[in-house]
Amino acid sequence: MKSTSVLSVLALASVVASVPLQHHHNMHKRAPVYEYVTETVIVTAGAQGGVSTSISVGDATSTSAPEKESSTSSFSEATSTSSSEASSSSSSATSTESSTSSSTSSSSSSSSSSSDTSDISGDLSDFENPTEEFEDGTVSCSDFPSGQGVIALDWLDYNGWASIMDESGNTATSCEDGYYCSYACQAGMSKTQWPSSQPSSGISVGGLYCKDGYLYKSNSDSNYLCEWGADTAKAVSQLTDDVALCRTDYPGSESMVVPTLLSAGGSKPISVVNESTYYQWEGKETSAQYYVNNAGVSVEDGCIWGTSGSGVGNWAPVVLGAGYIDGITYLSLIPNPNNSDAPNYSVKITSATGTISGACSYVDGSFSGDSTDGCTASVPSGSTAKFVFY
Ligand SMILES: *[C@@H]1O[C@H](CO)[C@@H](O)[C@H](O)[C@H]1NC(C)=O
Ligand SMILES: *[C@@H]1O[C@H](CO)[C@@H](O)[C@H](O)[C@H]1NC(C)=O
Ligand SMILES: *[C@@H]1O[C@H](CO)[C@@H](O)[C@H](O)[C@H]1NC(C)=O
Repeated sequence: MKSTSVLSVLALASVVASVPLQHHHNMHKRAPVYEYVTETVIVTAGAQGGVSTSISVGDATSTSAPEKESSTSSFSEATSTSSSEASSSSSSATSTESSTSSSTSSSSSSSSSSSDTSDISGDLSDFENPTEEFEDGTVSCSDFPSGQGVIALDWLDYNGWASIMDESGNTATSCEDGYYCSYACQAGMSKTQWPSSQPSSGISVGGLYCKDGYLYKSNSDSNYLCEWGADTAKAVSQLTDDVALCRTDYPGSESMVVPTLLSAGGSKPISVVNESTYYQWEGKETSAQYYVNNAGVSVEDGCIWGTSGSGVGNWAPVVLGAGYIDGITYLSLIPNPNNSDAPNYSVKITSATGTISGACSYVDGSFSGDSTDGCTASVPSGSTAKFVFY
């Protein structure tokens, strides 16, 4: 009996939810208030290995209001597998020549940042573990702890931090006492720091805690600030322009500011978080989410909380999800309810090694199977996959 069942039955429901949060952009005279709600909910793989995703999204409204943004988003998604795979140790030096990239200048970021994007590739090779533990109470809150996988996001103007927020959802532009100072890790890595006790309001906070002028870990489960996920998925480009994949700062502000710069013709690991050990929101497992901009949009222009209709950041044309649960990696392509325009490339999830189940692509504005909810591919233990941009 040669049954063709691939992954017999997986019924997964992992939900990433996020909730409101206040986000001050003090440098703007008048910033709109965005309320962005995205909910993805169940990813089910049927007996044939087919996968259906149901996503419901609420969304965004922008009203003009005093300098602050609140975002609410919930997502769900599923995830994946182990497997080793030859991590190509490409510490690709992303050369940033500011050639003429016509980028949509979405307001936000009141410039400044003499950002050198080469820094965002980080100091570790792919899947090379950090070796220097972070020592509590030794780094001043006014310093940014770059290195060992931690990267500075200079274009946000928070001294490298991804966001700075306290348990009440108040935000600041510099890391100060009483705040969680959230940071980004290089492509493929995830931050390890967030307090196990989260605000009852439902917002999430993450990062290092600033106390008496010095930084402290908020989670003693790891002595390092960044960790690798499962080595089961990467992004591969066949394009001639770079693509900025912008992961949400979560737990934290949920702004899509954590960059993975997929250079033209290049490859980068995707963070496949181990949902069993990664951040759980109100007891629910969460996955990594990336807002993917059009090709040619820079990290500085695309990895931000965008403005309505800007096409960047939270208005980017595609959202990717990645996670790993009980040996299986789940990779998704998810529509962004605020941007149904086709991206200026196609993207598909294919096997890199071994076999995967569930056809999943986004071509000319249509998801495989003509689904309006996106699609998910599952990667069994022993196989690996890639998001191919072409
Ligand atoms: C994921 O986390 C579980 C629970 O700690 C652990 O048993 C498993 O080995 C982890 N898998 C990977 C690929 O990290
Ligand atoms: C894709 O869109 C971006 C943003 O609109 C633009 O800068 C870039 O030139 C476009 N690239 C292609 C190949 O169409
Ligand atoms: C964002 O999406 C929501 C619904 O998904 C819609 O109501 C809202 O108008 C959109 N915003 C813009 C600027 O298109």
